[in-house]
Amino acid sequence: MTSNPQAAAGEPNPLRALTLDRLRCRTSMKWRTYPEDVLPVWVAEMDVPLAGAVVRAVTDALALGDTGYPAGTAYAEALAAFAEKRWGWDGLAVERTRIVPDVMLGVVEMLRLVTGPGDPVVLNPPVYPPFFQFVAHMDRQVVEAPLGADLRLDLGALEDAFRRAAVGGRRAAYLLCSPHNPTGTVHTAAELAAVAALAERYGVRIVADEIHAPVVAAGTAFVPYLSVPGGERGLSLMSASKAWNLAGLKAALAVAGPVSAADLARLPEEVGHGPSHVGVIAHTAALRDGTAWLDALLTGLDGNRRLLTGLLAEHLPAVAYRPGEATYLAWLDCRELGLGDDPARVFLDRGRVALSPGIDFGTGGAGHVRLNLATSPEVITEAVRRMAAALG
Ligand SMILES: Cc1ncc(COP(=O)(O)O)c(C=O)c1O
Repeated sequence: MTSNPQAAAGEPNPLRALTLDRLRCRTSMKWRTYPEDVLPVWVAEMDVPLAGAVVRAVTDALALGDTGYPAGTAYAEALAAFAEKRWGWDGLAVERTRIVPDVMLGVVEMLRLVTGPGDPVVLNPPVYPPFFQFVAHMDRQVVEAPLGADLRLDLGALEDAFRRAAVGGRRAAYLLCSPHNPTGTVHTAAELAAVAALAERYGVRIVADEIHAPVVAAGTAFVPYLSVPGGERGLSLMSASKAWNLAGLKAALAVAGPVSAADLARLPEEVGHGPSHVGVIAHTAALRDGTAWLDALLTGLDGNRRLLTGLLAEHLPAVAYRPGEATYLAWLDCRELGLGDDPARVFLDRGRVALSPGIDFGTGGAGHVRLNLATSPEVITEAVRRMAAALG
């Protein structure tokens, strides 16, 4: 007997499948940035074996030598079907999509379509650090609209930022993270409609990074930005990369609403040469045939959020953690520990556990760390033990 319905359905919890010894054989960033005595719970890679559907699709492609250039719309069709089934959204039109190499390069290309050099891009810190880096690298100016104390969008701050960004008739954009990394906040339909109304009022174009959209707890509704009233002018980036751990198999989708279709049509054709054909095959298989695996993952993540809550209460009661409904990331407020702006440094040096430093996430990140929950309960338990030991 099992209490996990997904396990009963034949999909065991993938977060329990790999031992630490096996994981340490990996050569990716998570496992090779720090020495062997450090436990890595930082970058957003998951400690899971791949979904069977993905392995089969990629293995078949390799056996066939199907390793040329990408073609066709299978990825977009799989995403459209997933969006309809999972989010009840039938508005993802395959003809208004384009494949892009990955979500961040897609973000850059979308921002290029709707802004020019020196133009402002509004961000909601604390937020995924590459947002700052990519925006600066493409010669746009970051305008901040920090999240509220409740870790949700602060519509007043956003309006103020939109007003400042639009000064002098500049072409302003807002890079929305939905769901939000690092807090795991899922924006509601009402919040997103309010965002769309503000964007309309101030002439700000919206680019929504929806990479974490499939990683939303059962019982919480993810609302695609393009589906809300006023969202028709938006552009979205989606991918199977976070939910199925496919970051190394490059492929993402840019999606336009009915009004922004003309903008997406201006995307230079060569951008579509960047994604890997094998990546497109993997992402398509994940979205089309990997939903039972995803459900087992989500069940495992729910358990891990509860486990972390209990472990913190027991070993680190001064750390504040508000479990989000989405992503596999936990945003921990360590300010009460008195470890300064960068507690991750202390946990690394004294506890030999690598977390993501909150300061990298911008305003509001000082004194925080981000912990990656996409791992086994044993690793989470050991990570908290090491964090507590660092204080001893
Ligand atoms: C919000 C967000 N956007 C983009 C990315 C990176 O996506 P990609 O590897 O497709 O560029 C991540 C990775 O963790 C992320 O959290």
